[in-house]
Amino acid sequence: MTFLDIRNLYAGIGEKEILKGLSLKINAGEVHAVMGPNGAGKSTLSNVIAGNPAYRVSQGDITFKDKDLLAMTPDMRANEGVFLAFQHPTELPGVSTALFLKTALNAKRKYLGEKELDAVQYMKRLKLRSLALKVTDEMLKRPVNVGFSGGEKKKMETFQMAFLEPDFCILDEMDSGLDVDSLKVVADGINVLRSNTRSFLLITHHHLLLDYIQPDFVHILVNGRIVKSGDRSLALQVEEKGYEEYK
Ligand SMILES: Nc1ncnc2c1ncn2[C@@H]1O[C@H](COP(=O)(O)OP(=O)(O)OP(=O)(O)O)[C@@H](O)[C@H]1O
Ligand SMILES: [Mg+2]
Repeated sequence: MTFLDIRNLYAGIGEKEILKGLSLKINAGEVHAVMGPNGAGKSTLSNVIAGNPAYRVSQGDITFKDKDLLAMTPDMRANEGVFLAFQHPTELPGVSTALFLKTALNAKRKYLGEKELDAVQYMKRLKLRSLALKVTDEMLKRPVNVGFSGGEKKKMETFQMAFLEPDFCILDEMDSGLDVDSLKVVADGINVLRSNTRSFLLITHHHLLLDYIQPDFVHILVNGRIVKSGDRSLALQVEEKGYEEYK
């Protein structure tokens, strides 16, 4: 079974073509990092995988665990195990994080034909993950992301991911806005999720994140395509030399 296979993907918004023939294969258990200049199409890629309806796909295909991902609605993709931690997390006034996560988890369990978690199991899981990511009870009671600082929003995205335990975790600039201590906490929270059945796509501009979460592969995305792939040393090269040679 191929975990994720993106073949010759062309996608954009309205008339604008942003991804121009992007291919990427991710096996189960692998961590892939994507780096690239501003506007290259990194967030577009993550949105297209998650199924944001604002983006149109004009060519190519994506299979996830051998199923046609592009044929699925965004909620089906989430239930199948795709999770996107947004570069710019959205606020959901009126919905507490605790309730939001319970609803999301039970919807997924229902989809998979599993029993809903009872209150005790739910609280246990919430405590385990919130303690690990230093998310307070007060934060859990507040409406999702409302009034949270930039860094707190990023931390909450990762916490949501850790709680839902998805198979494929896409983190779009998770490290932006986090202070050094929070970055360490969040990276540790991600590292404990690493397993041979779960894969990660980390979008970042900085090699520091990749010191904490060591990727198996690093890809450079420029102008809608992956122009170079390598190991972690590629991240350091980019930080030293920039993207000029790839443009
Ligand atoms: N709604 C839109 N209308 C027009 N252009 C758009 C729209 N959304 C995105 N774009 C353009 O698509 C390009 C790719 O955007 P994207 O957000 O994927 O870049 P990125 O690689 O994530 O950049 P960054 O590193 O700054 O986050 C950008 O040039 C952006 O301006
Ligand atoms: Mg982006």
